[in-house]
Amino acid sequence: MSKQTVKVPDIGTDQAAEVAEVLVSEGDSVEVEQSIIVLETDKASVEVPSSHAGKVISVLVKEGDQLKTGAAIMEVQTEAEDEAADEEVPVPAEQGEPSAGAKEPTADYEGPTAAPRDEDTREESERKESKRPEAQPTEEAKEINVPVPDIGDAGDVEVIEISVSVDDEVEEGDTLLVLESDKASMEIPSPASGKVTKLLVGEGDKVKQGQQIAVLQSAGGKAAGKAPEEKPEAKRTERPVSPPEQRPTTTPVQQTRSATQAPAQLPPAVEAGDGSIYAGPAVRKLARQLGVDLSKVKPSGPRNRYTKEDVRSYVKDVIARGGTGAGIPQVPAVDFAKFGEIKRVKMSKIKRSTAANMHRAWLNVPHVTQFDDADITALESFRKEKKAEAEKRGVKLTPLPFILKACALTLKAEPSFNVSLDPDGEHMIEKQYIHIGMAVDAPGGLMVPVIRDVDQKDIWQLAEETVALATKARDGKLLPKDMQGGCFSISSLGAIGGQGFTPVVNTPEVGILGVSKAAIKPFWDGEAFVPHTFLPLSLSYDHRAVNGADAGRFLTHLVGLLSDYREWVDLG
Ligand code: COA
Repeated sequence: MSKQTVKVPDIGTDQAAEVAEVLVSEGDSVEVEQSIIVLETDKASVEVPSSHAGKVISVLVKEGDQLKTGAAIMEVQTEAEDEAADEEVPVPAEQGEPSAGAKEPTADYEGPTAAPRDEDTREESERKESKRPEAQPTEEAKEINVPVPDIGDAGDVEVIEISVSVDDEVEEGDTLLVLESDKASMEIPSPASGKVTKLLVGEGDKVKQGQQIAVLQSAGGKAAGKAPEEKPEAKRTERPVSPPEQRPTTTPVQQTRSATQAPAQLPPAVEAGDGSIYAGPAVRKLARQLGVDLSKVKPSGPRNRYTKEDVRSYVKDVIARGGTGAGIPQVPAVDFAKFGEIKRVKMSKIKRSTAANMHRAWLNVPHVTQFDDADITALESFRKEKKAEAEKRGVKLTPLPFILKACALTLKAEPSFNVSLDPDGEHMIEKQYIHIGMAVDAPGGLMVPVIRDVDQKDIWQLAEETVALATKARDGKLLPKDMQGGCFSISSLGAIGGQGFTPVVNTPEVGILGVSKAAIKPFWDGEAFVPHTFLPLSLSYDHRAVNGADAGRFLTHLVGLLSDYREWVDLG
């Protein structure tokens, strides 16, 4: 048995990193490589693994402490007899306890090291000092190849953000891209000032240490590979940042990437609609623990990164306002593998964004759903009569175009549904146009393309447009503008089945119509029961904006139109 001190490994910078989380307690048994603390600088978030297996005798740090390379983290009682205390410390000797006489660390460019080094660490570190991996000149003296620096034992890691574009001028130390493994996220700084001439990786790519990621044209003949002399932080926030939509998402490497490449094994990300949420593992963990949806939190860190303080402030704010989210108990995590074989798969971006939208709508909107059946016996005979003509025109005439048109006319007659609530809580927006969204069951998830000016289009035009938009949705070709501006939505499960369902309002719209499968039912005509075709409809609405009487009028008007098409359907 021997007592060993586990220390902070080489974190690649002489700056202190904050202890964001302590993952062990006194008395715990730890394994080699088990994460014991999370360190965060403004550039990186790193889980520090234990260099020894054994029992934790004492934890020497707490959350908020500032630690440098070599600082003691905990003492461990190990099983091994022959290990000499402190020899195990996996850091270069010259980077031990930070002190006045401590040697300057290697250049910042080598970036964070996310794991302890093994026995030949010292030698390795010495080699690095004399042979820096970055900024090696190519045939052009001023052209600098930028490789992935030492990222510890992280193996392949994913590029989660490209922070620059080709032709951007960068300062030495500016962040070029951000990498994230399941244990750490780290910003890769530029080794020199200059212009980005090539980006060789794209978001989502997996990269490894030494892989070339970009090429720079150094500024003003500055010697390539020279160690940075200034602290990169000073300039990073002053440089204009490309908004996410302007950042390159496709690069030569991405284009040639194999379709069979393994998907990222990252912790479940919480993303906004545009996917631009960047938070370290510790921040994500805190957000998960507190049940905070990061897409609702305003980031305050550099380049819109989230800090733990942002999450805490958000929670305080919600509690102070007594607003949405407070008091909602979290669904406990379940280890399903205990009950049988499982497979953990990443949700598509569409599914994640649908989940976030549904959650938001469900929590914000007091939903009421009203049901009725429209007698579409006459409309169905008429539609079937027109099927041959539809085929000649090259369109498919389903009930949907008729339902779309009937909804548009009802929105005109009952404008209480053609509104949105102003976020100020004091105004209502009355729309003078009628655009209707149509839910499409696309392979990646639910999409809702919007048909514009439905009231002004005839049934043939609507039939053509529904088919065109559904095809676009299924082929993944919808543009953001195709899905914006809706006043009301229709979700039709008529072709699939079911007698009724309660659709969720697609906020900021205030109403949605659910359409179920038409069925033949007995109808009493005053003398006898005769077969009629009924279409089940369910109208969900935001009860903050629409009152029950208005909703009753809306659905009754709609049912009336569908039951008697002669007044409003003109197919020529
Ligand atoms: N009752 C009975 N039959 C119906 C019907 C209804 N309410 N609605 C459609 N049908 C019939 C159609 O007439 C067609 O049959 P036909 O070829 O004999 O005429 C068949 O069902 C297939 O129709 P479909 O191709 O699906 O066209 P559509 O115009 O009804 O619907 C979409 C188009 C894009 C809306 C639909 O394909 C879709 O994706 N629906 C799913 C929407 C969804 O997922 N909603 C849930 C959101 S939470």
